[in-house]
Amino acid sequence: MQQKITPTIAASSTVTLPEYLEKTYWWAYTHPNAVRVFERQWLVNLILWGNFSKLRDLALDEMGPEIQGNVLQVACVYGNFTHHLIRRLGPRAHLNVIDVAPVQITNLHAKLGLQNQVSIFQQDSTALQFSDASQDTVVVFFLLHEQPAEVRRKTIAEAMRVTKPGGKIVFVDYHRPKATSPFRYLMIPILTTLEPFAMDLWNGQIADWLPADCQKLDLNKQTYFGGLYQKVVIQR
Ligand SMILES: C[S@@+](CC[C@H](N)C(=O)[O-])C[C@H]1O[C@@H](n2cnc3c(N)ncnc32)[C@H](O)[C@@H]1O
Repeated sequence: MQQKITPTIAASSTVTLPEYLEKTYWWAYTHPNAVRVFERQWLVNLILWGNFSKLRDLALDEMGPEIQGNVLQVACVYGNFTHHLIRRLGPRAHLNVIDVAPVQITNLHAKLGLQNQVSIFQQDSTALQFSDASQDTVVVFFLLHEQPAEVRRKTIAEAMRVTKPGGKIVFVDYHRPKATSPFRYLMIPILTTLEPFAMDLWNGQIADWLPADCQKLDLNKQTYFGGLYQKVVIQR
């Protein structure tokens, strides 16, 4: 039996909080009260209109029932996303989770408790400290809509860079709903007020922000819940 050890935590003094995170999302991610408020499964599920588990499992199913190799989760997620990912890790797989906010790193450590096969790093998604082609799978769950366009572009480029040839990058995020969906109208005031960069995901395609050398890769996009959410899977 493998010995259970505490997840590896690596804090970095060279990583600074991005301006957009402090200015726009302090209430959700960087303020010490943010975790106390948002770290509730029912609340994150409500924010996604009851779709949290479905979207989590859609992302995880892309990695397979038993996940092999090195997996990178780009940014922490409130709720049980990481727990479910860990449950699927094969005996020799390893999960790396990065987040730029120390509060989130501390929270994830507290949430996961004693675990093996997991390392947690304070890193910026725009400057990942992993070698080229070092990860078999990279998952980016509801991060892109929170980032300004240039930051988003760099996050995608970094996710592509660290993925091995043949590996998968899985994005789950917002998307423009169909005209028949009430959420097409309901979400506009919510997103424009609270999440000013999110409408980019309605008005553009993740494919548009791929680096030039990745434009021809195999990309599969599917939408859910009347089009409000999308999953984009790219084979490197
Ligand atoms: C994955 S996103 C949103 C996930 C989802 N809304 C949820 O319920 O948590 C939230 C995380 O992204 C992190 N984040 C934002 N910008 C980042 C960046 N440039 N690099 C790494 N992490 C970042 C935030 O600190 C936060 O923990």
